[in-house]
Parts: sequence; C-alpha cells; structure tokens
Amino acid sequence: MSISFPTAPAIGTPMSATNASDAARRLIALRRSVSKRGLTTPGPNEDELDTLLTVATRVPDHRRLSPWRFIVFEGDRRREIGPALVDIQKQENPEATETMLADTAGYFLRAPVVVGVVSSPDYEHKTPVWEQELSAGALCLNLLLAANASGWAGCWLTEWISFSPGVNRLFNLSDTERFAGFLYLGTASGDPQERLRPDAQPLIQRWSSQNS
Ligand SMILES: Cc1cc2nc3c(=O)[nH]c(=O)nc-3n(C[C@H](O)[C@H](O)[C@H](O)COP(=O)(O)O)c2cc1C
Repeated sequence: MSISFPTAPAIGTPMSATNASDAARRLIALRRSVSKRGLTTPGPNEDELDTLLTVATRVPDHRRLSPWRFIVFEGDRRREIGPALVDIQKQENPEATETMLADTAGYFLRAPVVVGVVSSPDYEHKTPVWEQELSAGALCLNLLLAANASGWAGCWLTEWISFSPGVNRLFNLSDTERFAGFLYLGTASGDPQERLRPDAQPLIQRWSSQNS
C-alpha cells in the first residue's frame, strides 16, 4: 500500500486555513476502530509507519513542547515482549488468572504494528501538564486517522499495561512519563459494524447567563 501525504512546507509559507473535502468529512464522520481481535497482516512497513508518525505529530501543542514520543513494536521483536509482560502481571496482580496471563502473552501479536504513545510532559514548564497530556491524546487520534486515511485499520487500547510501573520500567519510561495508550495497526480481518453512538444534543449547552 503506498502512502502519500503532502510534505509540510517551509516555515512561513502561506497556508490554507481549511482543507474542505468530502473524503475528510467522511473519514471523520464514519471513523471506526477495529476490535483488538480484528487485526491481521499486513501492516504499514517501516517507511510507511514513519510517514504516519510524522503526520500524527502535526497536532495542537501549546508552546511547541512535543510532550510525547513513540515506541514502535513490529516484526519478530514483538515476540520477546509477551513473557516479560506475563512476569510483570504475575508480580503486580497475584490474582491474574491463567486466562488473563495467556491473553497478556499475546498482546503485542494482535496486530503487525503496535505503537506505544508515551505522554512525556515537562512538569517545570509554564504550559500546564494537563494541556500537554491532552496533546498526547490528540496525537493518538491523529495517528489513528492518518492510518485509516491510508487504508490501515486500527484501535487505541490502554489495558493494564498502560498503568503498570513494571511495564513503564520494561520500556524505559521516566518517572514523569506514562503511556497514553497503544495503537494497534494493520489490516481488518473483517468489516466492523456500527456501534451505538451518543446523542450529542443533550451534551450541548448553549450558555447564557439565564441558565448558569
Ligand atoms: C484512551 C483510550 C483507551 C482505550 N482503551 C481501551 C481498552 O483498553 N480496551 C478496549 O476494549 N477499548 C479501549 N478503548 C476504546 C477503543 O479504542 C474504541 O474507541 C472502542 O472500541 C470503540 O470503537 P470506535 O473508536 O469505533 O468508537 C480505549 C479508548 C481510549 C480513548
């Protein structure tokens, strides 16, 4: 699958403030994740993935801190992770069942490419950490949309591995970093179905001083 995204122009180049297109509207309005059991090969190759990751970083980022980074898991190297995760789960959760451990052993084999998105905020900076963390969330969605726009299916999962001190140590996260999640990317083994979506109307309040 060949991916083609426009390259970013030189700094200061006049830009369009909008990119209105049917395709973009369709992508956003009909975006759908694939289940964690619904991904198979092929996935993006190294060059294609680098392009997706580059595009994904074009995300709102207050004061340009780049408060995030990626850890990529692809190919046979994914096989080394399962046993290490199982050991960590046994230590951190003595109540983990054999089924849970077997599930964990296969986590990184559920898709040909797995991208750990690390939220890496600067706690000393005047930009609030909350804003930096929100930027990491936006980065995850941007990556998913860039992948979908290129023909790759995917899903964004956290699971216990995003909240585990042992997993953070395994992947060399610093004390101030955490996983925003893992993006599983590949080819859909079947078409997902629509799921229930929220009714946005009750979530929308048009503020006026009368109803505050
Ligand atoms: C931060 C974050 C973490 C998530 N973690 C999980 C998870 O651990 N397991 C899971 O089944 N879905 C998880 N989801 C939900 C899926 O990514 C996905 O949104 C859901 O399956 C619905 O599909 P949709 O994206 O097409 O609405 C998570 C979503 C977000 C935003």
